[in-house]
Amino acid sequence: MRIQAFTKTYNKKCVLRVPQLTLQNDKIYAVIGANGSGKSTFARIVSGILQDDEKKKVCEGAKAVGYMPQQSYGFRMSVWKNILLGGGDMARAKELMRRLEIETLAGQRADRLSGGETARMALARILMKRYDLVFLDEPAAAMDVSSAALMEDLIREYQRENKCTIMLLTHSMKQARRLADYVLFFHQGRLLEYGEAEQVLFHPKNEETRRFLEFYGT
Ligand SMILES: Nc1ncnc2c1ncn2[C@@H]1O[C@H](COP(=O)(O)OP(=O)(O)O)[C@@H](O)[C@H]1O
Ligand SMILES: [Mg+2]
Repeated sequence: MRIQAFTKTYNKKCVLRVPQLTLQNDKIYAVIGANGSGKSTFARIVSGILQDDEKKKVCEGAKAVGYMPQQSYGFRMSVWKNILLGGGDMARAKELMRRLEIETLAGQRADRLSGGETARMALARILMKRYDLVFLDEPAAAMDVSSAALMEDLIREYQRENKCTIMLLTHSMKQARRLADYVLFFHQGRLLEYGEAEQVLFHPKNEETRRFLEFYGT
């Protein structure tokens, strides 16, 4: 899979500049960086829901690319219907609800769930489909520790079964350490450092990366 070099400009200000990148198939990437560093913009452009400055196709070599938004959303219908919104089979939906411990919520209205419940439902919704590349934009932000652990198991399993590439945008360095094969570090709209997880998280080359990791705790 390849990501073409691209930029994104808002109000004459370039908020993101990304060089050409080759992504390894069948790997988990953690995308890290402070608020406003460009993680979501990167994910949304690569997954095609937002256009870069040249309005080109940024991602090559991936047929299906998915994006789970940072703000997960429950439509005003049952949790069950929300998960099946994009199609897929009932057995899979049931299994995902069981794994994420939301089966008891199946019949409830999705717009009345708590933040953590909404996030689990949104994760089930995205994992209903098979993607070659899937972005999960801070999926655990509203989850408690035990839900986050269920989520991590499920992400690993989805990745293994589909042999796909997952890009996990996260604020948790612990989560990055547990899951990631590779890490991308964004700083002020630039991809400042990327490479094998071990290298970036434990032996960063860049001073800014080092400072970020010190602050967020490796
Ligand atoms: N629609 C928009 N209009 C103007 N600026 C935006 C818009 N979306 C994002 N930005 C800016 O782009 C930068 C990167 O944002 P974002 O990708 O959401 O960062 P992150 O996900 O790392 O927190 C921020 O400075 C943000 O304010
Ligand atoms: Mg974001």
